[in-house]
Amino acid sequence: MTGPVTNTPGSASSDPVSPGGTVASLSLPPWAVATTARRAHIARVVTLIGTWAAQLAVSPAERQAWHDAAMWHDALRDAPEHALRAILADDPVAGAGDSAEIPPDPAFLHGPAAAARLAADGERRDGVLDAIRWHTVGSVGWGATGRALYMADFLEPGRGFAREDRAALARRVPLDFDGVFREVVQMRVQWAVGAGKALAPRTVALWNSVR
Ligand SMILES: [Fe+2]
Repeated sequence: MTGPVTNTPGSASSDPVSPGGTVASLSLPPWAVATTARRAHIARVVTLIGTWAAQLAVSPAERQAWHDAAMWHDALRDAPEHALRAILADDPVAGAGDSAEIPPDPAFLHGPAAAARLAADGERRDGVLDAIRWHTVGSVGWGATGRALYMADFLEPGRGFAREDRAALARRVPLDFDGVFREVVQMRVQWAVGAGKALAPRTVALWNSVR
């Protein structure tokens, strides 16, 4: 069984753009709790989102935002539920109302918790924080960073289902960013409904905005 890996030194504010692709190249915050398998997933998301950023020739600032959102989105994915809830209890943003939107399923806690920790560390880019905060739920308020992360997290090649369909979608992103985003939202909503999951209000709003 793969256990949590102890923290890797890293800076939440000075992470350089890198090609990613290997776990060794990851620069996670010092408070990250992520297994070896999780770090491999993060590396694949960083690589995929970097490929799209290059093909779309986005600005250096946008490219950095996509990279950082991908790098940090699952930084707390393997932290215990009580630790995530403790972070959110101390978070002024969550305490002001966002916590009421977080679905009760513990799997939804790691995004808001990571965003809270990054904000506490000094991260000020709302696009990066919102991308991470809502990456498991979706958000109609997203710009390109949130949308790119939502797609890359789902389309990275390490996931075992619908490999060919997802690879085709990943290749189409630079050609039809909004169209693929819509298809990814549809696939994720269909999966959740098929699995009998309740949809978070943000997920419903996102689906209604793109259908
Ligand atoms: Fe992820």
